[in-house]
Amino acid sequence: MLALRRLTAAVPRSAKPLRIAPSVLSADFGRLQAEVQAVGDAGADWIHVDVMDGRFVPNITIGPDVTAAVKKATPKDIDVHLMVVEPERHVEAFARAGADWITVHAEATVHLHRTLQLIHSLGCKAGVSLNPATPLDAIQYVMDELDLLLIMTVNPGFGGQTFIGSQLPKLRAARGMCNASGKPIHIMVDGGVKVDNIAEICAAGANAVVSGSGIFGTDDYAATIAEMRARVAANPL
Ligand code: DX5
Ligand code: ZN
Repeated sequence: MLALRRLTAAVPRSAKPLRIAPSVLSADFGRLQAEVQAVGDAGADWIHVDVMDGRFVPNITIGPDVTAAVKKATPKDIDVHLMVVEPERHVEAFARAGADWITVHAEATVHLHRTLQLIHSLGCKAGVSLNPATPLDAIQYVMDELDLLLIMTVNPGFGGQTFIGSQLPKLRAARGMCNASGKPIHIMVDGGVKVDNIAEICAAGANAVVSGSGIFGTDDYAATIAEMRARVAANPL
């Protein structure tokens, strides 16, 4: 118990304020502009855009044109999550569409370091996402090019799945790794994030969360986002 406390104390959560990024995957696509504006007005920090190609993941979703429409609808940062094979072939199109953050999967590109450099050369912040089965080693040698680490807590492909609890130790290890690097890397969690588990997720090391059904599936976006912040604030390490 004492050892556990020492370990926890040695790995503080993060000095960064909490970033909440609703995923438009769970929005009403027929009213996309209004939905994006509504979550922005409700207190979202970033807008998360899930791009799926039907190859890296089974589903097909959003491309650069719809991303550009999302950008037009909000002053918030656009956080593009590319769940596509060979993402290096597409990052320029999403940068042109207005992405502020572009995250690629370590499993989807042979040249991860070069892809992160490409994202930076286009004026965007660069993120790497890891599937639940992918170890943290995948980012060990690209930390210098990393602005954001996205830990998947579902197998990517669909909104509304159940949070995979086995990712919490990975999240704690990631926080230790990022703190040790001395770089201000955001650690974001994606998949199954709700009011009821956000405190535990942030206590384990996340300073940013994606939530799709956990926000768009509720009646009052502002109340849900405020409750998420309150749960995290009430549960300091
Ligand atoms: C999953 C996507 C997630 C998803 C989250 O493949 O990357 O961003 O939309 O949705 P919820 O919060 O409903 O799990
Ligand atoms: Zn996502």
